[in-house]
Amino acid sequence: MVITADHETAIETPKVGVWQPRIVAFLCNWCSYTGADLAGISRIQWDPSVSIVRVMCSGRMDPTFVVKAYRLGADGVIISGCHPGDCHYQEGNYKTLRRVHLLKRLLAGFGIDPERLRLVWVSASEGNEWAATANDMAREIRSLGPLRLET
Ligand code: FES
Repeated sequence: MVITADHETAIETPKVGVWQPRIVAFLCNWCSYTGADLAGISRIQWDPSVSIVRVMCSGRMDPTFVVKAYRLGADGVIISGCHPGDCHYQEGNYKTLRRVHLLKRLLAGFGIDPERLRLVWVSASEGNEWAATANDMAREIRSLGPLRLET
């Protein structure tokens, strides 16, 4: 286990031969990606099961991106954007908020636990928050176990 300065962000070292979750995080370019970058340059560690995909705005998130991530093997998905009122495209994150509410209901209808999808707001100055979010999501997905989609 790696213990960082903040015990809330302690992460476990992956064990060989033990299932590890795959989490895809879609981060908006202007806030959340920069926040994750800040965490990186500040040497704040987050769970290695989280892989980042940069999108220009959280509002760019088409629900099919999330579905495709699950189909291709993701066990969880994070969408992160600027705080409400801070979106560089005015209202992209408000659109995302509405879409995620609908998408969670759809996922539940398909038998996918809605907790496998998380929407968070992380600004460019919130590297700690990004790391805490990634670690918390990894813990959540580990407790849920692998996503088994019926084909
Ligand atoms: S630019 Fe960050 S959510 Fe729109």
